[in-house]
Amino acid sequence: MSVILRRLLSGGRAVRPAPCVRYSSAAPEIHERTLIAVKPDGVQRRMVGEIIKRFEQRGFKLVGIKILQASEGILGKHYHDLQKKPFYPALIRYMASGPVVAMVWEGHNVVRSSRLMVGETDSSQAKPGTVRGDLSVHISRNIIHASDSVDVAEKEIGLWFHSAELITWETNDHSDLYQV
Ligand code: PPS
Repeated sequence: MSVILRRLLSGGRAVRPAPCVRYSSAAPEIHERTLIAVKPDGVQRRMVGEIIKRFEQRGFKLVGIKILQASEGILGKHYHDLQKKPFYPALIRYMASGPVVAMVWEGHNVVRSSRLMVGETDSSQAKPGTVRGDLSVHISRNIIHASDSVDVAEKEIGLWFHSAELITWETNDHSDLYQV
């Protein structure tokens, strides 16, 4: 704002320019990661972009992504603890019925936050606003997987990704060009 305009707006009194506000660069380093997988029904229904959008908008950082036809080997390991459940064979058939998009997202409290974003396991109980509550209706086609603890996330990421497939990248808002 020009000096003349500032004087006019302030009734002729001289006004000092606002001091430049600087934010501290001492933000904590955030490295928590989680595994998010768009299940075959989500891929078939073209929901991958919608799901990625939600995680990006929330402020999380995508550090790994791939589409794959999951083998029975990987699914057997991933769902190892559910082997005795009556729905286990149907769950494996469903997860092997088409490609899965596996992703690793990083950010503050990402494991807990993503579980809240995903919603209840049973889609019919999932709240509106959650991925399952907005995009699915039944537990057997609940569209997305999210690791349920930090320890489990570490194991699941190791199962679905080689370390070389995960990219550590620095935030750059390109403000030199966009003046944001
Ligand atoms: S349990 O029974 O409490 O251990 O199961 P839960 O933690 O709720 O869910 C574990 C995973 O099993 C999937 N699930 C099902 N798939 C198909 N059909 C039925 N009926 C069913 N019930 C549970 C559920 O989606 C969980 O998978 P992920 O990949 O973690 O979402």
